[in-house]
Amino acid sequence: MPIRLAVLLSGSGTTLQNIIDRIDRGELDATVAGVISSRAAVFGLERAKKHGIPTAEVVRKEYASHEAFNTALWTEIRGLSPDLVVLAGFMSLIDVPADFQNRIINVHPALIPAFCGHGMYGHHVHEEVLRYGAKVSGATVHFVDTEYDHGPIVLQGTVPVLDDDTPDTLAERVQALERELYPQAIQLFAQGRLRVAGRRVFVH
Ligand code: GAR
Repeated sequence: MPIRLAVLLSGSGTTLQNIIDRIDRGELDATVAGVISSRAAVFGLERAKKHGIPTAEVVRKEYASHEAFNTALWTEIRGLSPDLVVLAGFMSLIDVPADFQNRIINVHPALIPAFCGHGMYGHHVHEEVLRYGAKVSGATVHFVDTEYDHGPIVLQGTVPVLDDDTPDTLAERVQALERELYPQAIQLFAQGRLRVAGRRVFVH
């Protein structure tokens, strides 16, 4: 049985598209039960609709508090009965109810714990990596806890930082890696091959 994914996003949805493509190609034993956006009218929602995937908007700025937003968000998520919640460029902090511990997954475009945390997303990350002068960067897939970019690490991969890199060229290299690493991690979850012990995730 394919596992049910709830995909949460706030933007263009290239991460969602990659997941849809992998499922279509038979590389991922999963189905996207629904897509939820924390911003109104983003392109990620159009991608979902084009594939007949149910969508919902829970717009962060329409809620006065983190608590009110998360109550509405989790009502939508639970309505999808997901096995796994997949963050795909989701730019709001999500609560982690006890029954969803190690059942929410995220990809970050750097090697956590470097170049991560609040405000470190998308291009900001690659700009900081270049400014710092790091020689490698990469992507990190991790389970989500209540701090930004902090939960147990599932998979990491590296890419070189080249002398003539710009934030754009580095982003392209990291995103190509993300497109491999994220579905791979989701597939390991689908196959029941991940075991979490404290901060460590074992693949077997
Ligand atoms: C991805 O590159 C992902 O690594 C990053 O946002 C992008 C989403 O692109 N996530 C973070 O920075 C999380 N801290 P998308 O909206 O086109 O899928």
